Amino acid sequence: MDLRARWIPDAGLLDPAERMSAGELRDLQLARLRETLRHAYENVGHYRRAFDAAGLRPQDCRELADLAKFPLTTKADLRDNLPYGMFAVPMGEVRRIHASSGTTGRSTVVGYTADDLATWAAVVARSLRAAGGRPGDLVHNAYGYGLFTGGLGIHYGGEQLGCTVIPVSGGATARQVRLIGELRPRVITVTPSYMLTILDEFEKQGLDPRESSLEIGIFGAEPWTEGMRGEIEERAGIEAVDIYGLSEVIGPGVAQECVEAKDGLHIWEDHFYPEVIDPVTGQALPDGSPGELVFTSLTKQAMPVIRYRTRDLTRLLPGTARPAMRRMARVTGRTDDMIIVRGVNLFPTQVEEVVLRAPGLSPHFALDLTTRGRLDHLIVKAEARPDCPPARRAEAAAEVAAAIKDSIGVSVEVLIVDPETLPRSAGKLQRLRDLRERA
Ligand code: DLL
Repeated sequence: MDLRARWIPDAGLLDPAERMSAGELRDLQLARLRETLRHAYENVGHYRRAFDAAGLRPQDCRELADLAKFPLTTKADLRDNLPYGMFAVPMGEVRRIHASSGTTGRSTVVGYTADDLATWAAVVARSLRAAGGRPGDLVHNAYGYGLFTGGLGIHYGGEQLGCTVIPVSGGATARQVRLIGELRPRVITVTPSYMLTILDEFEKQGLDPRESSLEIGIFGAEPWTEGMRGEIEERAGIEAVDIYGLSEVIGPGVAQECVEAKDGLHIWEDHFYPEVIDPVTGQALPDGSPGELVFTSLTKQAMPVIRYRTRDLTRLLPGTARPAMRRMARVTGRTDDMIIVRGVNLFPTQVEEVVLRAPGLSPHFALDLTTRGRLDHLIVKAEARPDCPPARRAEAAAEVAAAIKDSIGVSVEVLIVDPETLPRSAGKLQRLRDLRERA
């Protein structure tokens, strides 16, 4: 028997929507989409004005393909309507507020009714189960608690699934390691970059993370790569799967990779309708084409979003482990993470793949974008592993520079720095510093 098969949940455990045929799912989506367009149009001034300007009424959406005629919504639209202008229900019905992490400027505020919170817990519970989590599991939740959706989002989803949630939040890494040893969780939920910090701490304390009780890690909130999956699985002795979401759409639990397949993330399409567009023209693209991911919420009450531009780059793939629900490929980066060096586009994840392949280097790296002459110049700083012989460093630097030149087509400077010298993550890691001289 395929070893992976033991991870497949019994069909009886799945939500009805996870078992729907493609036709049933499309019918449900269309009914929910029409209701969402009506709700947004009647209750949110921004959508009313935007639909009117496009000469559209909610009832002009007669089939799913009609959605592409409706206007896109951007982060700027949400910012222009801060704090509550995008809410579609009276404030008395809003039970909770969260905010986006504000990596690209002012953060945006999002709200949830009681029903929205129930939906969110249900999609996170579904995600944890797809990741291999089961009722009765202990979940060490190291996503930050607070305005960030990671902590509380995973928390209530874990409880909903019937797990025991340990609300550790981020930071105090030595204590994270102690708690894992003492409380013996089976599942850890954390950003991949902070998982590396935790693994380093295990080793610093002379402990082998492979001996810990952890069996599953559910990693998201920032881009990561197959190379990073290999590194974490190997060092921690766990299954590492990808979870995706964003606060504007709901939080974590928009899409989840199934542990038995590890082939991209199933989008919970009964609640979130995906499209991929050309980020420059805004044109909807056929499934399979790379582009910017756009979501329309199908059940949200407090803050419905219509064709919200995530800025995340990926492509839509057909369903596998949940046949009717499409998958999204691992996010390669955000449109605003893209670094342009002498006309060549580059994402931090592409550097991650290369650094992780170089023997002698740790998975920690940082990027400094500087000016050399009048041109942009990228410095990749990668950390040597403690056991990396000094002579190997120069070789590793040359290999990384050559591999980046080869795979991405751009020359960068590579500096190998001492172990433990690059900043460590306690949550979402910002890898790029823009140190360019302004003219
Ligand atoms: O990061 C929600 C979340 C929490 C997801 C915990 C997963 C786990 P925001 O703070 O609004 O929400 O940031 C959303 O983070 O648009 C992506 O750019 C990025 N992101 C989230 N998950 C992934 C992932 C949460 N699996 C933004 N891979 C999104 C790549 C991700 N990027």
